[in-house]
Amino acid sequence: MLVNAKEMLVKARENHYAVGHFNINNLEWTKAVLTTAQELNSPVIIGVSAGAGKYMTGMKTVAKMVKAMDESLGITVPVALHLDHGTYQVCRDCIEAGFTSIMFDGSSLPLEENLYRTLELTRLAHAYGMSIEAEVGAIGGTEDGVTADGEVADPEECRKIVDLGIDFLAAGIGNIHGIYPDDWKGLNFEALNRIKAATNNIPLVLHGGTGIPDDQIKHAIAEGVSKINVNTDCQLVFAAATIEYCKAGLADPTSENKTKGFDPRKLLKPGYEAIKAKVKEKMELFGSINKA
Ligand code: 13P
Repeated sequence: MLVNAKEMLVKARENHYAVGHFNINNLEWTKAVLTTAQELNSPVIIGVSAGAGKYMTGMKTVAKMVKAMDESLGITVPVALHLDHGTYQVCRDCIEAGFTSIMFDGSSLPLEENLYRTLELTRLAHAYGMSIEAEVGAIGGTEDGVTADGEVADPEECRKIVDLGIDFLAAGIGNIHGIYPDDWKGLNFEALNRIKAATNNIPLVLHGGTGIPDDQIKHAIAEGVSKINVNTDCQLVFAAATIEYCKAGLADPTSENKTKGFDPRKLLKPGYEAIKAKVKEKMELFGSINKA
C-alpha cells in the first residue's frame, strides 16, 4: 500500500521507534525491501536518489515499477515512495511522476533561498497529498558524487524551516553518508536536543545510517529520531554477495554456478538475499517490526 510518510513517522515518534528508509537502485533491491517489510509487518520508506532515478530511466519508470510491484506482491504494510535529496527540479519531476513523498535538499543554498523553495514545494506536495522532508545543515560524506563535510544544524534555522509546514526534518548532527572516518567524533546529542527543543516535536531524520554504532542509533531514536536512511550498507552486502557467487562459480569447475551462474536471475539472487538480511537487521535495530 503506497502512502505518504507523515502518518507512519508521527506514529514512530510517539511510540519511540524509527522507520527505515532504504535506497533502491533496481528491481531486485525494490523487491528485497518490499518483501522484507511485508514478512516483518513493518512500515518502510523506499528512497530514490536523483542518480538512481536516472539509472532506472527516470522517475516515471520508478514510480510505475514500485506501484505495480507493490500491487503484484500484495503488499499490505504502509510503504512510502520517497525522493532522497532532491533539487527543486527533481522534486517537481517526482510530484509529476506520482511519488508519495519528496525530500527537498536546499542545504547548500543560502538560507533565504532554501526557505523560499521549501515553502513553494511544501504547498505543492501537500496539494498532491504528499509528504515533504527538508534539510538544513548539510549531511557530510559523498552521495551521487557530491561530497560535503558533516555539519551541525543551527536550531534557529531548523525552527524557521519547520514553521513552513514541512512534515519531517533532516538536520545535521555530525552524521555523514557512507563510511565514517576512524576519527569521527560520533553524533552530537547536545545539538540533537537543541534542535528537538526548537522544532515542536516534528519527526527528525538521521541520514548516513550505515556507519553509526548501534548504541548511538538507539540513543538517537530515544531522543526523537523517527526516520533513518540506509544506503551504503545495502550496497556493500549486495556487492560482496555477488562477487562471492561469481568467484565460487568461476574457480570451481564442479560448481553448479559454473554452468548456471550466467543466468542473471541466479547471479543476482545472493545479493537480493543479502539485502533482505540487512533490511531485517536494521528493522530489528530501529524497532519497526510489527508496527505496520
Ligand atoms: P548511508 O549511505 O551512509 O547509509 O546513508 C544513506 C542516506 O543517508 C541516504 O540519504
